[in-house]
Amino acid sequence: LPKAFGAGYKVVITAGPTVEDLDPVRFISNNSSGKMGYAIAQAAAAFGAEVTLISGPVNLDAPKGVRRIDVKSAVQMLHAVEDYIKSADIFIGCAAVADFRAETISPVKIKKSEEADTLTIKLVKNPDIVATVGKLESNRPFTVGFAAETNNLHDFARAKLEKKHLDMIVLNDVSNKAIGFNSDDNEVTVFDKDGQIAHFEKQPKPVIAQYLMELIFKSAKKKNS
Ligand code: C5P
Repeated sequence: LPKAFGAGYKVVITAGPTVEDLDPVRFISNNSSGKMGYAIAQAAAAFGAEVTLISGPVNLDAPKGVRRIDVKSAVQMLHAVEDYIKSADIFIGCAAVADFRAETISPVKIKKSEEADTLTIKLVKNPDIVATVGKLESNRPFTVGFAAETNNLHDFARAKLEKKHLDMIVLNDVSNKAIGFNSDDNEVTVFDKDGQIAHFEKQPKPVIAQYLMELIFKSAKKKNS
């Protein structure tokens, strides 16, 4: 492909985990490494696109030429996405967003008590960021989601695509330990509303990212063209 395949496209990508504070020293999070989202940002930039990477806390450097916005929680991630989404042609939700956060963050360290053997923390649902973008009524970008499933891949893909109003969904089979979370490799199957459109065998995430960005640039329209 020519280097300028993605020239003129504005791409917004979320990556990494979110971190939901419980008190000043404790939090809820997950072990997303951010590798897939960062590889996608790098591939999109290498194809000439203008890339904004909205990232939860990860141990990775921003790819060259990519604007990186650092966030911590899902609510912060949603606000950052809202800041950049209006002019975006493409949105790719790669982040492993925590499904829940504490209803209230304790301003002081939570203490254990002598009397009680249990502690209850009330969790509330986080906003679904990719669904919020998918359901935009104006200035909606081409919207891509990810999903990690272990079984019934096709059924879940179709259901999630519809529920979140996505244009494309990329499935990782996480029943295979050699791929997915924290791994350097991935193997994915891609669906749109008509069904499966691609399958990429186990390969390094940067290679998978290039194939995915080719597919996405071919399907997405530029807003100002
Ligand atoms: O529903 P599930 O978490 O399996 O969906 C995964 C997809 O949804 C990913 O693209 C992920 O980035 C996105 N997501 C999101 N906000 C959430 C939960 C998931 O953007 N609160």
